[in-house]
Amino acid sequence: MQRIIVADDVELNREILRSMLEDDYIVEVAKDGEQAIGKLREYYRETAVVLLDLQMPHTDGFAVIDEMKGKGWIKKIPVLVISGDYAVEVENRCFEMGVADFIHKPFERSIVKKRIKNAVDLFNGKNQLERKVQEQARALKEQNRIIQAQAEKLREGRAFGRLMMEYRSAIMEVETRLKVLNDEFSIEYNRNPFESIKSRLKSPASIYEKLERKGFPISVESIKENLNDVAGLRVICSFPDDIYRLAELFTRQDDISLIREKDYIKFPKCNGYRSLHLILSVPIFLSDKKEHVRVEVQFRTIAMDFWASLEHKLKYKKDLDEADEIGLQLKLCADSIEELDYQMQEIRDKIDRSRS
Ligand code: GTP
Ligand code: MG
Repeated sequence: MQRIIVADDVELNREILRSMLEDDYIVEVAKDGEQAIGKLREYYRETAVVLLDLQMPHTDGFAVIDEMKGKGWIKKIPVLVISGDYAVEVENRCFEMGVADFIHKPFERSIVKKRIKNAVDLFNGKNQLERKVQEQARALKEQNRIIQAQAEKLREGRAFGRLMMEYRSAIMEVETRLKVLNDEFSIEYNRNPFESIKSRLKSPASIYEKLERKGFPISVESIKENLNDVAGLRVICSFPDDIYRLAELFTRQDDISLIREKDYIKFPKCNGYRSLHLILSVPIFLSDKKEHVRVEVQFRTIAMDFWASLEHKLKYKKDLDEADEIGLQLKLCADSIEELDYQMQEIRDKIDRSRS
């Protein structure tokens, strides 16, 4: 049950009203304004109505209304003034201060109940409407937040798409330049320095996995800054000396810069892996600017590539019982391949010399 505060200095009035209302409300009585304010402080949230006499000792009804205005309570709880015969100006002043209605003496049970009910219904309706408006405002704000977050994602998505386009362009750029060298060689020297080129763009999942594994931030900027192998090319040559010749000619191009070189041919990995790895910065020409993009280019011979593909399979099958034995076998094969690569090169040289 909700509470009703009856503030009147005349005990008889309080008791008459209590008897009329106690079936429907918990009736809190106050002898003066101060007590009424005390009750309001205590029961603000559960109070349906305040019935208020204006003339009371110490703190009068106006002071109670003032306090309720100050605290914002008057907007939530209807105040009905219990009045004798007040002048029109007094009633006007009360309405201006936010009073909901008047209950005139002598109290007539059915009128008192109806006026209270009207005021309560009106305020409930008003409060509900306000709550709805507030809820809608909150929902709107939330919606706005979601839209902003999606826009941010979209921007990131677009920036990611753009960066991938730049890497694709860099792959095309490198591939074209290498093909030009190949073409020139075949005309000048009647032979091709490389057999084939394979290229790949790192997948978004691998990019994400690598950034996370290395503890880098997950963002478009971070990809650019921290990853060297989003754009990757593998150049497969027939002979070891072609690898160095091609790498040298390529890195000599004046707009390409070499960021890092790892020579696993001169210094093979202990598992036997051999290849020449270059991290390069390559220019690409866009509609409005030139961008430098990092590319990883791996050079290896056909035999080294054959070996690396098979060895790569072993990496994903570490739980194999014979993994150690296979690793050893692969190492022996790598040694044989090295010998084979140089023997083949020698044979080629002999053939070349006999031709000239
Ligand atoms: P990643 O983080 O794997 O890129 O290595 P990294 O940044 O230390 O560069 P590194 O030049 O050592 O290796 C780059 C790439 O070369 C690898 O991603 C592989 O594709 C290849 N690679 C390097 N070592 C091996 C190897 O032992 N076996 C095989 N099959 N491939 C290798
Ligand atoms: Mg890599």
